[in-house]
Amino acid sequence: MTGLPAKVTIYEVGPRDGLQNEKGLVPTDAKAEFVRRLVAAGLPVVEATSFVHPKWVPQLADAAELMTMLGDEGRDLPVLVPNERGLDRALELGLRHVAIFGSATETFAQKNLNRSLDEQFAMFEPTVRRARDAGLDVRAYVSMCFGDPWEGAVPVDQVVGVGKRLFDLGASQLSLGDTIGVGTANQITGLVEAFVAAGMTTDQLALHFHDTYGQALANAYAGLQAGITTYDASAGGLGGCPYAKSATGNLATEDLVWLLTGLGIEHGVDLGRLVETSAWMAGVLGRPSPSAVVRALSPGAAESPT
Ligand code: HMG
Ligand code: MG
Repeated sequence: MTGLPAKVTIYEVGPRDGLQNEKGLVPTDAKAEFVRRLVAAGLPVVEATSFVHPKWVPQLADAAELMTMLGDEGRDLPVLVPNERGLDRALELGLRHVAIFGSATETFAQKNLNRSLDEQFAMFEPTVRRARDAGLDVRAYVSMCFGDPWEGAVPVDQVVGVGKRLFDLGASQLSLGDTIGVGTANQITGLVEAFVAAGMTTDQLALHFHDTYGQALANAYAGLQAGITTYDASAGGLGGCPYAKSATGNLATEDLVWLLTGLGIEHGVDLGRLVETSAWMAGVLGRPSPSAVVRALSPGAAESPT
């Protein structure tokens, strides 16, 4: 179709956003296998884990162990770091890509980072400066771009102000998060336009959708029409945020791949291998994948009477 990008980068967040909210601890070697299988399925970027406080996200308390297990294979995979302590832990392991994650709202900044909206910048500024000085690439996330469970609708100017400020700390990309999945296609278009009007380019922006209200795929299509070429997605549609209860799974990578393939947009992912991986992870977690495409293509799906 005309007007859509020829090629898209899928930024896989399954091992991080997908697993961070899981109650039962997933064994570290299963996480390592998950990461390896995602890379083998052709995903160009796989965000592996978070160097956050282990008490805040117990599921990812094994971040160092996982990255040590992955060794050289993990060196170029991005990880979340909220502060200098997280950065130090990533630097000790020789990692080269980190991501900071800010909030567009006051309440979520406090709930997720134990900082006020303004204080979050004081935490991120030295983190990004030191990461850049050490030659690392830094991604920035901004959460609650379309709605916040405590504050309701979030003004576009507020999102653009916080997002640009995070990006200008020295990030190479800004990912716009619909943390609780409330945004609709018109709002995606409007926010992208507002960032472009504020001086950012579409290749500096990524879109990060949670599928709480079933809007993620429609929103991705709106993003394609607006010229965005990086989409965050989670294998099998796993995901959520432990500090935003209304956040459910991310846009499923398989559903996105199906859309992109149908539109003739290059993405480089082997859908069969990806579905096998998500079906395997569903077995590890002990429940079926929420992704429609995984359910349709999983072994045995054709014979199923439902
Ligand atoms: P805090 O309690 O304010 O930390 O938490 P602090 O700076 O006061 O430090 C207290 C103690 O924690 C100190 O130890 C630090 O060393 C230690 P002590 O001196 O008392 O012995 N500490 C750490 N230890 C290990 N690793 C660290 C670390 N930092 C401090 N990195 C903090 C502040 C930011 C650490 C905490 O709030 C936190 O870890 N938050 C993370 C929450 C989180 O991971 N949320 C999910 C990810 S965000 C998300 O999912 C949204 C996204 O997907 C986009 C979207 O959907 O919108 C990205
Ligand atoms: Mg998220």
